Amino acid sequence: MEERRLGPVVGLGTWNTFDSDAATAQRVVSAALDAGVRLFDSSPMYHGAERSLGTALEGRREDAMVATKIWTSSADEGRDQYARQREWFGRVEIEQVHNLVAWREQLEWLEQERAEGRVDKLGVTHYASSAFDELAAALRTRRFDVVQLPYNPHEREVERELLPLAAELGIAVIVMRPFGEGALLRRSPPPEALRELGVETWAQALLKWVLSDERVDVAIPATSKPERTAENAAAGSPPWFGPEERALVERLAA
Ligand SMILES: NC(=O)c1ccc[n+]([C@@H]2O[C@H](COP(=O)([O-])OP(=O)(O)OC[C@H]3O[C@@H](n4cnc5c(N)ncnc54)[C@H](OP(=O)(O)O)[C@@H]3O)[C@@H](O)[C@H]2O)c1
Repeated sequence: MEERRLGPVVGLGTWNTFDSDAATAQRVVSAALDAGVRLFDSSPMYHGAERSLGTALEGRREDAMVATKIWTSSADEGRDQYARQREWFGRVEIEQVHNLVAWREQLEWLEQERAEGRVDKLGVTHYASSAFDELAAALRTRRFDVVQLPYNPHEREVERELLPLAAELGIAVIVMRPFGEGALLRRSPPPEALRELGVETWAQALLKWVLSDERVDVAIPATSKPERTAENAAAGSPPWFGPEERALVERLAA
């Protein structure tokens, strides 16, 4: 798989796919690691997914990069979330402020963690276009190394300001919702169209659409099906789509 600033370009999301079901997490995470996936995204918001992920990574932790989040308006509770994450993961490579919640307050102590080498990178996330002005303002402080945002053929607002800004400031980009929470996969185009795109599945076409934008570092599709991790990871290698292939994917997704 191609590697960019955050490692291999296909990671794994953990929202709604295994929650506190540690056995499913074990199967999915193990298959993902076997397929070359290295970045695993989670959050205290994901109903036990952090703990399940931590258990699933036991014995293979050094192969993984954990990108999780702080999600609370209180700095004290933020520190508590972080303490639990260190129990589950040992350390957190990328710590993100989830949905911009109290981002200034959380940054104060998170920057200390980064300065002392316990966290590698700090990030900030939001899923809603109504919050993108504030997300851009947070990036302009230059205090974040990573931004996580939604990007797929149905959600392209980030092309207006956030992707150019991240590129200008040298901020790495994690793409959430590459399949629009699965909505883009409800119907698949005919096999001829997939052949024309040089992919085997519609999921791969959508991931290649995202990753063909060179401002993107990694996409984090979520799945509860172990075999789909290899299918998704296979989209993480060149050749990438040019403008015509991207336009075809957009028409097929319309
Ligand atoms: N910070 C934020 O605000 C925020 C918000 C949303 C998401 N996120 C992060 O981004 C990650 C990804 O976003 P998402 O989970 O919302 O949506 P997504 O990755 O766009 O879509 C996930 C859905 O796609 C299906 N899927 C995955 N691979 C497939 C394949 N090869 N073929 C067919 N179906 C496939 C999964 O179903 P199966 O389980 O049946 O495979 C799942 O229902 C999240 O898990 C989370 O880590 C962050």
